Amino acid sequence: MCGIVGYVGERNIESVLLVGLERLSYRGYDSSGIATLSDGELSYWKTPGKIWELEKVLQNMNVQGTVGIGHTRWSTHGEPNEVNAHPQVNTVKKIAVVHNGIIENFQALRQKLIAEGYLFRSQTDSEVIVHLIARYLQDDLLEAVERTLLDLEGTYAFAVIAEADPDRIIACRKGSPLIIGLGKNENFISSDINAIIQHTKEIVYMDDLDIAILNKSQVEFKKLGGAVYAKPSHQITWDAESADKSGYDHYMLKEIFEQPTVVRNIISNIVKGDQIQFDDLRISNEDLNRTTRFIIQACGTSWHAGLVAKYMIERYARMLTEVDISSEFRYRQMISGINDIVVAISQSGETADTLACIREAKSKFFKVLSFVNVRGSTIDRESDGVIHTLAGPEVGVDSTKNYVARVITLCLFTLYLAQLRWTVSPDQIKEMLADLKKIPDYIDQILAQKDKVKAIADRYYKKREFLFIGRGVNYPSALEGALKLKEISYIHATGYAAGELKHGPIALIDENLPVVCIAPHCSTYDKMMSNIQEVRARKGKTIVIATEGDAEIEAYADDIIWIPNTSEDLTPILTVIPMQLLSYYIAVNLECDVDQPRNLAKSVTVE
Ligand code: F6R
Repeated sequence: MCGIVGYVGERNIESVLLVGLERLSYRGYDSSGIATLSDGELSYWKTPGKIWELEKVLQNMNVQGTVGIGHTRWSTHGEPNEVNAHPQVNTVKKIAVVHNGIIENFQALRQKLIAEGYLFRSQTDSEVIVHLIARYLQDDLLEAVERTLLDLEGTYAFAVIAEADPDRIIACRKGSPLIIGLGKNENFISSDINAIIQHTKEIVYMDDLDIAILNKSQVEFKKLGGAVYAKPSHQITWDAESADKSGYDHYMLKEIFEQPTVVRNIISNIVKGDQIQFDDLRISNEDLNRTTRFIIQACGTSWHAGLVAKYMIERYARMLTEVDISSEFRYRQMISGINDIVVAISQSGETADTLACIREAKSKFFKVLSFVNVRGSTIDRESDGVIHTLAGPEVGVDSTKNYVARVITLCLFTLYLAQLRWTVSPDQIKEMLADLKKIPDYIDQILAQKDKVKAIADRYYKKREFLFIGRGVNYPSALEGALKLKEISYIHATGYAAGELKHGPIALIDENLPVVCIAPHCSTYDKMMSNIQEVRARKGKTIVIATEGDAEIEAYADDIIWIPNTSEDLTPILTVIPMQLLSYYIAVNLECDVDQPRNLAKSVTVE
């Protein structure tokens, strides 16, 4: 994972690099650092911890320079400490490198370089890059970088600066994202657009095996061993989206409370009267009609949204839908049909496992349709068709408003398909759209119960284990509820299809185990009632999420949180809200770092 940023120009270099790193910290935040060249002299500073720790280190430093690079890290090789933080420098500290990706043959390279006398200070795979460049550097940095690339196996986006070439940054990409920002008398590199969008909107997307050579007046591109070639630039049409806490204690809480607005915004963008329209769909209605199967690829929370979509697509559009965890996709020998469509779901649009799936799918001539939140991301650009999920920037690592945004857009897509294939009558579509339009108000009503949810969290936050159970379209909700809790509170939590309880997990239940039971009014209600009673019979504590007015279920609940009545397939959008709040308040009680939980990153760009 990790984020990298670089700058050549006359602005305050410390500020450009730090602001960039702050905006990239969703990619990793266990340590960070910068390196600059000033009057041909290399300086660097790095530290474990969040970006503000680096700001503290730099407070009394006089950071100067017209060329600089920065890095925010999510550790793969070597624990998060100062030595393993980037920039990595060569033995005599004249060359600095920041790297995102994994050098797979680093062990062999490292042994070879150590035998030749190079001094390794870190446990990182990245350090071999800087020593290799030093090894090959005679008088041309570019040539040394190109020779280095020939030795590297694995993935990388890296940037190098060196005293031997004091006015330039050289940046290379293979498998990890990297963009170039073009300015007037200044140029930028970054892992994503948002880190530099406040400075320039003219962007060049680097492709695999591209090398960029930047000085302040120009950027040249070449392929390894090839001649300089022209790459088109793109004008970004959106603005930097601000993401502040707006008075909330944490981004996560703010993002939970933004959900009604997000849903209203999605509906007003996609639903015009009774018509559902997708602007960037780019896959024809003929192709969608010809399709016999969707194969959904996603990870984590996006995978849960994909599972909800399977229920909806099969029910309304009557189309076979499979859902894979992206990292598992390649291990099954997928039987491909010529009309299948691979559907990728990704908030960041950079998740390496999902990206690998869509690349494999494209190599097998599948059409790829992606549901992506971050515009301009790699999955956005590499897919045949895209549906943007319009949730806006999400800073909290625990995905909340983006989950709801994904489920809503997938629901609208299902209705679009159903319309196209005449599997649902126009009246039913109208009815569903009318129900959907009520969802923002319903979410508001659930959010209004926040004090009640907080009180439940206050009672249960010391428990070390939770179970979440649901059925049918709310089975994915159980998985999502459990994931939210464990991610930010470090409490072990498992989501189960409620019918599976009796096949093993029921052995866990005793008076110490809180069980979150998702039981809105729907076709699985009676069966859920039986499961709740099974839990109660074994003295488990039941925290029930139920439909308002359900007096029957109240008798079996130790605690109850109400959701308004809505159609069955929309219930996952509502049932997840109390579980988001519950996780949030439990994590706050435990004094966890809610927005940046340990070991995680918002964008997972390694496989
Ligand atoms: C959980 C969470 C992760 C992501 C997963 C996929 O709160 O955010 O499980 O859903 O890493 O990320 P995207 O959606 O960016 O592909």
